[in-house]
Amino acid sequence: MKRKLLSLTLAAVLALSLTACGGGNDAAETTTDAAETTEDAAAEETADAAETTGAAASGEVANKDKPLVWFNRQPSNSSTGELDMAALTFNDNTYYVGFDANQGAELQGTMIRDYIEANIDTIDRNGDGVIGYVLAVGDIGHNDSIARTRGVRSALGTAVEKDGAVDSTPVGTNTDGSSTYVQDGTLEINGQTYTVRELASQEMKNSAGATWDAATAGNAISTWSASFGDQIDIVASNNDGMGMAMFNGWSKAEGVPTFGYDANSDAVAAIAEGYGGTISQHADVQAYLTLRVLRNALDGVDIDTGIGTADEAGNVLTPDVFTYNEEQRSYYALNVAVTAENYEDFLDSTVVYAPVSNQLDAETHPTKNVWLNIYNAADNFLSATYQPLLQNYDDLLNLNVEYIGGDGQTESNITNRLGNPSQYDAFAINMVKTDNAASYTSLLSQ
Ligand code: BGC
Repeated sequence: MKRKLLSLTLAAVLALSLTACGGGNDAAETTTDAAETTEDAAAEETADAAETTGAAASGEVANKDKPLVWFNRQPSNSSTGELDMAALTFNDNTYYVGFDANQGAELQGTMIRDYIEANIDTIDRNGDGVIGYVLAVGDIGHNDSIARTRGVRSALGTAVEKDGAVDSTPVGTNTDGSSTYVQDGTLEINGQTYTVRELASQEMKNSAGATWDAATAGNAISTWSASFGDQIDIVASNNDGMGMAMFNGWSKAEGVPTFGYDANSDAVAAIAEGYGGTISQHADVQAYLTLRVLRNALDGVDIDTGIGTADEAGNVLTPDVFTYNEEQRSYYALNVAVTAENYEDFLDSTVVYAPVSNQLDAETHPTKNVWLNIYNAADNFLSATYQPLLQNYDDLLNLNVEYIGGDGQTESNITNRLGNPSQYDAFAINMVKTDNAASYTSLLSQ
């Protein structure tokens, strides 16, 4: 009798959790059917169904030992950038998936400098001899944002060293060139020397605390353009969400080249209308890696399967699109510049990467349940590019993923929705703040 009750409860919980996940309908039906048959058979069938779906894992593997992947926001100290190795080595199956921030930052800076060089005859709109740019900063405590600010300043000669690294502090306004966070840069082009100035830069954080905020960038460009618009020759942004807000709000109509990062579909399409360029951080590779490392850990196979080593379905990545840093437990996708020359190849940012687009066999890779959160449901990159890609890959990898969207401001808004980690076989986490890994690992350690 006890057994029956237990099995029925398990069946109900299982059916509920599967329905809540919005997937795994077949398994849910199997379980419901099982609950309806006679008691002993029901108990057995339910146990079987639970095993196949992986929900039974709850009782077998402790939450602290389940595969965990951090993505997009690397556990690290938001002031110093130092990696949070405790979070990155939480258990044997813990990894980070992101992209090579320095390589991408250098690429973004070079892309802007190349544009200036190619357009030097027309770039200085008011002819004052100074090539002026404004810069939208995403999050001063996010190492990817810091790297991009440094990359632009280094390439344009405006960088200033502080404590052995390029200062990434936003200048506020610097129309007179007096800021100590940057210097006036010089570019030698065709034997002539030109001055480059960071006229203004600001962290785009809204009053509620959300960073990388596109609306804030839209407001900033209105303010900047109203007071020194004719001095602005270039608009640069740490990402496309903010870049497109500035482009649509001002620079498109003025014909001022605007540069972003992420290669979101709308930004790539805007290149045809004068958006200067963007960087693809190979989200198609990152989204795959995010789920693939979980799949491999759940299957108990070598972590490189379907990554550096082809799996039985033929999925494999080549070294030109990613690197793995063993010590940091981190996978980094490599970046590609997207400009007027090649943008037509990047128009849809949600298409899976062909070399890793083969369906895994459902027998050898049975469905598993994954809890995954996006730190801010309103983030352009994560919602328009990354999540749609994840949703394409979860089917190919037979993962039943529950997607949780945060508000971009409070960690508890997300952690509150990880009330029952035992329901899941693995976790993929995108923190609000890179310092906050322990808010999640403490839940898994309970
Ligand atoms: C993206 C940004 C995004 C941020 C969120 C970055 O990698 O470039 O667009 O807002 O991640 O953490």
